[in-house]
Amino acid sequence: MAKFPKNFLWGGATSAAQIEGGRCLDGKGLCHLDYVYFRGPKTPCNFMLKKDLEKARAEETTLNFPNRRGIDFFHRYKEDIALLAEMGFKSFRMSISWTRLFPTGLEETPDPEGVRFYHDVFAELHRYGIEPLVTMIHYELPIIFVEKYDGWVSPEVIPYCFRYLKFLIDEYKDEVKYWLTFNEINNTINFLPDNMPDEYFQDAYQHLHNQFVASAKAVKIGHEIDPDNMIGCMICGITYYPHTDDPKDILFNRHKWEKGIFYCGDVQCFGYYPTYAKRLWDEHNVKLDVTEEDLKDLKEGTIDIYTFSYYMSQSVTTHKGEEVTRGNMSTGTRNEYIQYSDWGWGFDPDGLQYYLEMIYNRYERPLIVTENGLGAYDTVEEDGSIHDDYRIDYFRKHIASMKKAVENGVDLLGYTTWGPIDLVAASTGEMRKRYGFIYVDKHDDGTGTLARSRKDSFYWYKKVIASNGEDLE
Ligand code: BG6
Repeated sequence: MAKFPKNFLWGGATSAAQIEGGRCLDGKGLCHLDYVYFRGPKTPCNFMLKKDLEKARAEETTLNFPNRRGIDFFHRYKEDIALLAEMGFKSFRMSISWTRLFPTGLEETPDPEGVRFYHDVFAELHRYGIEPLVTMIHYELPIIFVEKYDGWVSPEVIPYCFRYLKFLIDEYKDEVKYWLTFNEINNTINFLPDNMPDEYFQDAYQHLHNQFVASAKAVKIGHEIDPDNMIGCMICGITYYPHTDDPKDILFNRHKWEKGIFYCGDVQCFGYYPTYAKRLWDEHNVKLDVTEEDLKDLKEGTIDIYTFSYYMSQSVTTHKGEEVTRGNMSTGTRNEYIQYSDWGWGFDPDGLQYYLEMIYNRYERPLIVTENGLGAYDTVEEDGSIHDDYRIDYFRKHIASMKKAVENGVDLLGYTTWGPIDLVAASTGEMRKRYGFIYVDKHDDGTGTLARSRKDSFYWYKKVIASNGEDLE
């Protein structure tokens, strides 16, 4: 029976906006995530348009902006990393805040304080033998690009972004080997409802194309800087099932995989647009603005590792009137064979094995599960303990599924749970939706001492890591 590889990267994942806080400290500039408000509209975390920004600005004094506070990792990173090390972490996925380095996004040289902050964080991780796994852009976009260009819809963002990406790989070359370019790059198109007007698709596909180009340029330069760099894509992995055995549903499901999952993976792994891309564009009269130079970049900047988040499966159908369930920003029909979280996300460990095997067969590249976790309500007992057996149960089943995929030959390098420490939810800005092994005393209204404490799952995950995934009891 195959086991997890000896150097398996057990760990956890976070993002700068959801943990750091320290908005505007040491010169940090504003990014669009600073304007994502508590339980506000769901899409702005990956796709903010000028009108979303204007609404948030008009109510700036009354709205609650949780990302501006995070969980104060900016000041408490040493304490937090010590806790991760206590669990035996081998890797920590984090992101870098673009606007902590380039406060407006337009500067030619970065802010030295920001640069130093990440050197300090990496040094602390290495002190404990924890490998940083770094997302270069976890949704974040400096605010000026939303104001001027409606974000990524314009190719004008590419050179500024490339300056930032190149800087990162060069500056931190001795500290970071694993880089991910764009977090959940496929969300832009995957979560766009089919009945939206064509202009939304035009913008979404162009937005993605511009990100593919920026990403490919970063991969290329990353390999030039150090051929040993392992640079990956990051895809929001949802396992789609046809809701019925109606052949129309089977075909619909296949197309859902192509649009939602394969489109972004294929371009980043193969280096060109797949045949079915033309069908996707034609469905919405999309005319992509693509240059010869872009195509060359895509070809020369293919990724080394495929990484993905996995929270849920979803059933899809062409039939009307089925009960609908919601995920992060997506919807599907209710599947009677799976459980649902407090937030309605379909809890499906078998779907993880399905996804791993399907993707590995398609690309035959090493994989990392860079997010997987359960957002749930936690209760703090009088003595301060937190008995989160539901979270343990969730992870136990998902790790067992991953193990089966490894036994079936999948080359899996690591597993970083989302988020090992309670953090701000990306889609809703909530704190009450808790993911961590580590509890953070902080609440939706911004109150709380920010004190950290260990939940039951903390001790359980520690045992899992110590046994390299053998002891799941
Ligand atoms: C992923 C994102 O979609 O899901 C994370 O990459 C996010 O940033 C995670 O936090 C969980 O979603 P949410 O909305 O519950 O925080």
